[in-house]
Amino acid sequence: MQMNDTKTYYIWPLGCQTNKSDGERVAAILDKMGYSRVDSDDNANIVAVVACAIRQSAVDRIYGKFRKWGKRQRDGELITILTGCVLPHDKKRLTPKFDLVFDIEDLPKLPLMLAQTSMEVTVDRRDQMEYFDIKPIRNSSFRAWVPIMKGCDKFCTYCAVPYTRGRERSRSSAEILKEVESLIDEGYKDIHLLGQNVNSYGMDNYNEITFAELMNQIASLDGNFWLRFHAPHPRDFTADVIEVIARHEKICSQINLPAQSGNNQVLRKMNRPYTREKYLEIIRDIKAGIPNVSLSTDIIVGFCDETEEQFLDSVSLMKECEYDMAFTAQYSMRPGTVAARRFEDNIDPDEKRRREDELTKVLEQTFTANQQKNVGKVDRILVEKYSKDHWLGRNEHFITVEFNAPEDAQLRGTFQNIELQKVAPFRFTGKLV
Ligand code: SAH
Ligand code: SF4
Ligand code: F3S
Repeated sequence: MQMNDTKTYYIWPLGCQTNKSDGERVAAILDKMGYSRVDSDDNANIVAVVACAIRQSAVDRIYGKFRKWGKRQRDGELITILTGCVLPHDKKRLTPKFDLVFDIEDLPKLPLMLAQTSMEVTVDRRDQMEYFDIKPIRNSSFRAWVPIMKGCDKFCTYCAVPYTRGRERSRSSAEILKEVESLIDEGYKDIHLLGQNVNSYGMDNYNEITFAELMNQIASLDGNFWLRFHAPHPRDFTADVIEVIARHEKICSQINLPAQSGNNQVLRKMNRPYTREKYLEIIRDIKAGIPNVSLSTDIIVGFCDETEEQFLDSVSLMKECEYDMAFTAQYSMRPGTVAARRFEDNIDPDEKRRREDELTKVLEQTFTANQQKNVGKVDRILVEKYSKDHWLGRNEHFITVEFNAPEDAQLRGTFQNIELQKVAPFRFTGKLV
């Protein structure tokens, strides 16, 4: 039970940064309705799940929660809301469990929908807002997610996103620039542009500028900030994108370029529109064009029929690209996708795990080999938090750096110079200089 009259809400975003960003907009609406935010679902009056459909495990976590929520929900103490990425298959089964299920595009209508769900919720009828007009309540005071486009038109055969997020639609560059300008004014230091294929930005609208030009205009704004983007697609990774990253110091020289596989047959079966050779050519162009670039990737292991030999092509691709980071995933069949209809999910779970572990080992080697040469250097770090007995931050390459300083030092959200002293997989230890 609540100890006071203020009703509370808890936002639970699963999945990628897009959902974190959507969660910040859901928070804005609930705040406006007079609810206050809490950090746990234990006693919250509203729980808003921003779901992810990318893997079955993310969906299972939601079902698992109803053991905890069920009683309070039946007693009328808790309203559960579901939004975000939900496949039609899961929507059918999840809808009866939730009090309210809505499409994130309908977020501006949330107060009205809630009022219809519960006698206790009252709303003023308000002017209809567009989704992007909602000013998010940000989780961080120094790192901000800025959506630049929605949806995905690529239809990779394994992927749920085109079925949960709809078609690609770019947000107007004027609006994006306005949001980024106000973020810089508010002191934000690490600005992440978001979209499923950010480098397809503007391609759905002939009057819009390109992704490279959008980055150029943002990076030309005055202020002390870093600019990053997630996720580009190898298909439209054009020379002007490489050139703009190289030209602007504010654009971090850190690129996550998802490969998904290093084998041409598997890529074709995934409907990824490039070959291993083409991918490697882009990586070569990036390395040649952006000195000191840090590369990462996404790889799926155990896709339908993937042979050991085909998997070894992913291993060799990872070695050749010398990544600093990789987001590896065991293939998870998504109902309704082309792969679910046409291919068999026939690689044993233990074998998928073994393949993923092997890629992690390769990654540890490439990371350490890449970063050893930076030991002894002084690096610029954006400090994030104090944890246990030290401070943590990240460098331009988004690599974690830990260092000692008093807990009460006001370092959160500031840039600091740190001498890198030791490297271990995926982090540095250093000291303030
Ligand atoms: N738009 C980005 C990635 C979006 S999804 C791109 O095209 O690269 C994030 C990652 O989840 C993907 O890169 C992929 O590696 C992984 N993923 C997507 N569907 C998956 C599935 N069915 N099983 C396992 N991993 C998956
Ligand atoms: Fe999914 Fe492919 Fe679209 Fe990325 S490009 S979101 S992997 S369909
Ligand atoms: Fe998941 Fe949707 Fe992101 S399916 S990975 S939350 S776009």
